Amino acid sequence: MSILIKKGNIITATDNYVADIFIEGETISAIGKNLNVTADEVIDATGKLVMPGGVDPHVHLDMPFMGTYSSDNYETGTRAALFGGTTTVIDFVLQKQGNSLQAALQEWKERSTNNCVGDYSFHMAVTDFNDETKKEIRHFIEQEGITSFKTFMAYKGALMIDDRQMIGLMEEVKKHGGLINVHATNGDMIDYLIAKHKSEGKLSPLYHYLSQPEVTEAEASERFVEMAGYTGCPGYIVHLTCEGALNAVRNGTYRNQKVFVETCIQYLILDASLYEREDGAKWVMSPPLREKKDQATLWAGINQGLVQVVATDHCPFMWQQKLMGKDDFSKIPNGHPAIENRIELLFSEGVNKGKITLNKFVEVASTNAAKIFGMFPKKGTIAVDSDADIILFDANEKHTLSASTHHMNVDYSGYEGWEVTGKVKTVLLRGKVVINNDECKVEKGYGRFIKRNKVAQII
Ligand code: URP
Ligand code: ZN
Ligand code: ZN
Repeated sequence: MSILIKKGNIITATDNYVADIFIEGETISAIGKNLNVTADEVIDATGKLVMPGGVDPHVHLDMPFMGTYSSDNYETGTRAALFGGTTTVIDFVLQKQGNSLQAALQEWKERSTNNCVGDYSFHMAVTDFNDETKKEIRHFIEQEGITSFKTFMAYKGALMIDDRQMIGLMEEVKKHGGLINVHATNGDMIDYLIAKHKSEGKLSPLYHYLSQPEVTEAEASERFVEMAGYTGCPGYIVHLTCEGALNAVRNGTYRNQKVFVETCIQYLILDASLYEREDGAKWVMSPPLREKKDQATLWAGINQGLVQVVATDHCPFMWQQKLMGKDDFSKIPNGHPAIENRIELLFSEGVNKGKITLNKFVEVASTNAAKIFGMFPKKGTIAVDSDADIILFDANEKHTLSASTHHMNVDYSGYEGWEVTGKVKTVLLRGKVVINNDECKVEKGYGRFIKRNKVAQII
């Protein structure tokens, strides 16, 4: 099967030009002006932006968490991602404390294999680093194609590891060419503040926010940067939200260190005033939403090259699940749905409002994650021999986000009624049209597990 995409405005992280793209099978075989080829299908992209499929390296599908499961499974979640222009996601396997990494991977494979509509990969979350776990690291990197290891400095008593384990894991991961991801907030401080607020009868969603002040994130980010610097292990801070945490990363750069930083779309455009609403539980996530000044810091950080990735931390729960914490904020399952909305919101609020360029948009929505996590140049760009993961985007079409029209398996939207300018019209994944005019053309099982390469490219 061959496809010719004609006269689109091709945008990559570095270029912007009008040309044709010829796709044979799953990959791009030629790019040029007025290509003289015969194709099985021709798509006229005149007037459209033609960009690499999005890469969202932070999603939680069908994940057991806080006494329930995230409400999007691998089918609904990856399909919603495709509707929103994201062709590859990276999800998290969670080790059960006391069990092996391999046991967790088997469990996650049972839920995901043959169930994905879009492409996917895994990070391995290490919640119990010991002599046995240590022996498994090399196998994950060299055989499973899982080259990044997630750590939690918070969720005390459930997922958190201590600094002793962190240093040991960093040394092992570095030795074999992997990377450490971190949820960097101070779990002990948060644990104390949650208990304090509860003992004072302060139980509303606002106290979720007040239990995780900026200092808890700034302190842990600084500690992580120091430990990564000491061990020399490549590091990546997930869902960074605030000025204090970004300044900890900035300080590392003064010592010629580099730690990669991800923020999420919600931290760029929503703020903590939402926690005062009756339905504030919809935005209970960790870290919590912050202040306007933090949004400004994050947009600036993107343009300064300190923040390389805009992800989602997609972790949806139905409203009924959120109500598990109606009398106690600490029981509200933490997480927010955005897998389908990330690209359109980032374009509308970022590019359209003049905060980032089109090239920067492609860089943070696709290219950098593909590079950092060992998938570039198969994923994350439009180039000869790359996978034909491509979105055709109408930069002018206006529409309104709503739970009544989205494809995520969640009965509310964190962006209900939000007007966006810019719409994903057509999506190709490995040379196949998977989305066209609000219709999904493939079934579960089309999505492929992506084994990732060893070394995080320096960007
Ligand atoms: O609130 C969040 N972020 N839920 C998902 C788990 C995590 O910490 O990433
Ligand atoms: Zn987290
Ligand atoms: Zn997460």
